[in-house]
Amino acid sequence: MLNVILCGAPGSGKGTQSDLLVEKYGLQHLSTGDVLRAEIKSGSELGKEIDGLISRGELVPDHKMIHLIENFLDQLPSDSKGVIFDGFPRTVEQAEALTMMLNRRGLKAVMLDLMVEEDEVIKRLLERGKTSGRKDDNYETIKQRLHVFHQVTKPVCTYYLKHHNYFLINGNHSIDLTFAQIDTILQLISK
Ligand code: C5P
Ligand code: MG
Repeated sequence: MLNVILCGAPGSGKGTQSDLLVEKYGLQHLSTGDVLRAEIKSGSELGKEIDGLISRGELVPDHKMIHLIENFLDQLPSDSKGVIFDGFPRTVEQAEALTMMLNRRGLKAVMLDLMVEEDEVIKRLLERGKTSGRKDDNYETIKQRLHVFHQVTKPVCTYYLKHHNYFLINGNHSIDLTFAQIDTILQLISK
């Protein structure tokens, strides 16, 4: 199984690159942001709590996210080609929990760190905000999301770097050129 963690600032292209990975490698796409937004839509009590956090650009507590991922892994078909983790882990605690959850199942994951200039992600998110209908694609919340990313999520990259399963991708380029870098790495490591 080829398990890929896509890390990157909001607006760095994780969702876009995930779609291309699904198409080429037949991986399952787990977008935790999409899962949380679906929970909000369901109108549940948990959804209301999540709605508040997302609208403020804050993170859902670790134990809730870890529980969600554990459930997802439990339901993974045995013939799965692998998973793209898009938006998880967002904290070092989540990363440590993911390593343990994967280890218990005899699995591993590699991190691809999608680096994009800050001006560029803000531009992309504001553009997306015109049509996404997302409460968090506005300037104020984008700033908060970027703050959380640098403070809390960036150390997750260092965690994977230390564990020797980390690759840096220059995401400032076009969608195709960004995917070409990802594709080259995945071809090499899946040999
Ligand atoms: O990944 P995405 O940018 O779609 O996530 C949108 C929001 O969902 C985040 O800003 C955060 O509020 C919430 N989220 C979270 N924990 C995750 C993934 C997303 O709290 N692991
Ligand atoms: Mg996304």
